[in-house]
Amino acid sequence: MAIFPTFPDLSGKVALIMGIGQTQIPDSKIWGNGAAIARALCANGVLVFGCDISLSAAEFTASRLHAEGGTCDVMTANVTSISDVQKVVDAVMAKYGRIDILINNVGMTAPGSPSTMKEEVWDAQIDLNLKSVYLGCHIVLPIMEKQGSGVVINNASIAGVSYIGKHQIAYASAKAAIIHFTRVTAVMYAPKGIRMNCVVPGLMYTPLVENLGKSNREEDREVFRKITQHNVPLGRMGEAEDVANTALFLASQAAKYITGQPLIVDGGITSQTGTGM
Ligand SMILES: NC(=O)c1ccc[n+]([C@@H]2O[C@H](COP(=O)([O-])OP(=O)(O)OC[C@H]3O[C@@H](n4cnc5c(N)ncnc54)[C@H](O)[C@@H]3O)[C@@H](O)[C@H]2O)c1
Repeated sequence: MAIFPTFPDLSGKVALIMGIGQTQIPDSKIWGNGAAIARALCANGVLVFGCDISLSAAEFTASRLHAEGGTCDVMTANVTSISDVQKVVDAVMAKYGRIDILINNVGMTAPGSPSTMKEEVWDAQIDLNLKSVYLGCHIVLPIMEKQGSGVVINNASIAGVSYIGKHQIAYASAKAAIIHFTRVTAVMYAPKGIRMNCVVPGLMYTPLVENLGKSNREEDREVFRKITQHNVPLGRMGEAEDVANTALFLASQAAKYITGQPLIVDGGITSQTGTGM
């Protein structure tokens, strides 16, 4: 069991995690961001319910969590589909009757600048990275409103804060929008007892990144080289556990006076100018 900080108020809470699986790599021991958040919550006694478009990816996470004594149910869902999101939320409500924590974690990049990216790729990227956050909130916030409490954590990216050396115009735009969505929605829902923040990860060594390094495609390996030959002030890429620790803190009562914030977890990358250290 990984060592995570302990926040006793989280024990017995119910969390819904969108995108609980991870890129599947045989024999990989590392964790994806959503899976690591689930792991940190389980380690704190949270009752976790997760969905993923890949049932096998979700079941892989669930089996790892069960092996560590965690409570985790999973089902398949496409987070860009309102009916799928509704079905997952209905399943959590049928099982537990409440949702205390919502983690909107799904996101993925596609290459392209405004001139090279095809319209259908732009639309799919905005659906996956941004509409998914809206849909999770659209269905879950009314439940939290009735409860008079709840915490939402959205997973953004430093691509939504700065140019990170790769043409990913739709991903960068969607992640920037998540940060603003979080800020504005947090203010709307603060009087209802609901907090919303986002984690803004930098370069994290997740299975998705590991997979690029093992790809047969030179373009993927080039992206892998760019990511791993980094200039992070702390001297290393981050790990999913760094994202998970942040989500855990934001979900807990230790963050009870924090809402509307993007919490950047990037080893200092976005605090430098690029002119050298
Ligand atoms: N890895 C990084 O360096 C990094 C950096 C910044 C932000 N992030 C963000 O972290 C989040 C997770 O990234 P990761 O690296 O752990 O990725 P990952 O691909 O390993 O995990 C994401 C999971 O989402 C699932 N998924 C994809 N499309 C879906 C859909 N339509 N409906 C439901 N599930 C779907 C995938 O099957 C996968 O299991 C993303 O939002 C990503 O943008 C990652």
